[in-house]
Amino acid sequence: MATMLTSEVNYQELIQSDRINGRIYYDPAIFREELEKIWYREWIYVAHESEVPEPGDYLTRQIGLQPVIVSRDEDGKVHLMLNRCMHRGNTVCQSDRGNSHAFRCAYHGWTYDNRGDLVGVPYAAGYDASFHKQEFSLARVPRVSAHRGLIFASLSANGPTLEEHLGPAKRLIDQFVDLSPEGEVVVRSGVLKHSYKGNWKMALENSVDGYHPNILHHAAMAMMMKGKNNMESVFGEGSDAHARDLGNGTAQLDLNPVHTKHGGRVVAPTWSKQTDSEYRAAMGRQYGTERAETILAEGPPHFCIFPNLIFILNQFRVIQPLSVDDTVISYYPTLLKGAPDEINQRRLSETYLIHGPAGRVAPDDIEAYERNQVGFKALVNEWLVLRRGLHREVSENGRIAGHETDETTQRGIWRHYRDVMTRE
Ligand code: FES
Ligand SMILES: [Fe+2]
Repeated sequence: MATMLTSEVNYQELIQSDRINGRIYYDPAIFREELEKIWYREWIYVAHESEVPEPGDYLTRQIGLQPVIVSRDEDGKVHLMLNRCMHRGNTVCQSDRGNSHAFRCAYHGWTYDNRGDLVGVPYAAGYDASFHKQEFSLARVPRVSAHRGLIFASLSANGPTLEEHLGPAKRLIDQFVDLSPEGEVVVRSGVLKHSYKGNWKMALENSVDGYHPNILHHAAMAMMMKGKNNMESVFGEGSDAHARDLGNGTAQLDLNPVHTKHGGRVVAPTWSKQTDSEYRAAMGRQYGTERAETILAEGPPHFCIFPNLIFILNQFRVIQPLSVDDTVISYYPTLLKGAPDEINQRRLSETYLIHGPAGRVAPDDIEAYERNQVGFKALVNEWLVLRRGLHREVSENGRIAGHETDETTQRGIWRHYRDVMTRE
């Protein structure tokens, strides 16, 4: 099947250094091949450990289209297993989240403990001595690994380690989590979900697109910058920020030069002086004064990890494809363990104000994806131009960097995508 599809789609032709073809966003055959080569082979972000803090806690998620259960057993270990009864295939868990020591299939009652082992079969006399329950545990996700509480999984038993996959993204995750005076973020404040009729890759590209904020989000940017900065110096042609392709599909908008120039984060929630000094003191106790000041000056990084995890401001978001033109994005607010309440309240309200259904930013992006998907129906000339800033990119320690408004980040994502899709 894979070989047949690979021979039908010429990814070298569809993805070139300065342009890509619209077919990549709507062809169902390409989506099927993405499931196999990306979603069922690469490391995929699944959940955060703090979402299942207690023994018995569980979540249901998807890896690509495959339903999985994330559960914490009585010994504190986290398990990832396929949500598919070993009898005749029913999902054994229907809730988004909860606490249970067992999952009982509603169809014929096969029951699994929260490690996935089969512990009960109704009317057992119907099975002879050759039936051994231990052979019918829920299928396990072959590889599971975590960094700073972020759980990634791969449905492939072989391949690069998570550490190899993350590469420079590891340090950026650290930058995000180190804003906590205890070195931990807590992801237990609910979730905002936006669905859109469009391809999943648009949300990934958009997350590190420094060209669009001042235009698509003009009203929001003007409001957020009011009294602080000139919009042009943050997301405009005059900005000192960089777009970086960090390899392996990780791409970053590096706003640090802007923060340095302005003596602090430019789009940041504010809090009282007392809260600020308490927070700085707690950070200093954890990291030492100098390192704490660096962490606070840098603020949260802005980047994406291929294919489904994005860090922007105080939340991270997860892309979940449902079909070639149907996608859900989940925005998870994160709290800083050990930080003053006021800061965590601000982080929470920032997520709702910016990314909620009536938020200042996210609805614009969602609308843009849907308009894109309609635009892709126009087939006379299917090419999309990705050449912005190609002439002014530079190499920094082997990584490509460009101006923040350049398409360096998108080109990096597409290079990685083409590599993955052309692998055997
Ligand atoms: S399908 Fe689950 S018990 Fe039959
Ligand atoms: Fe946007």
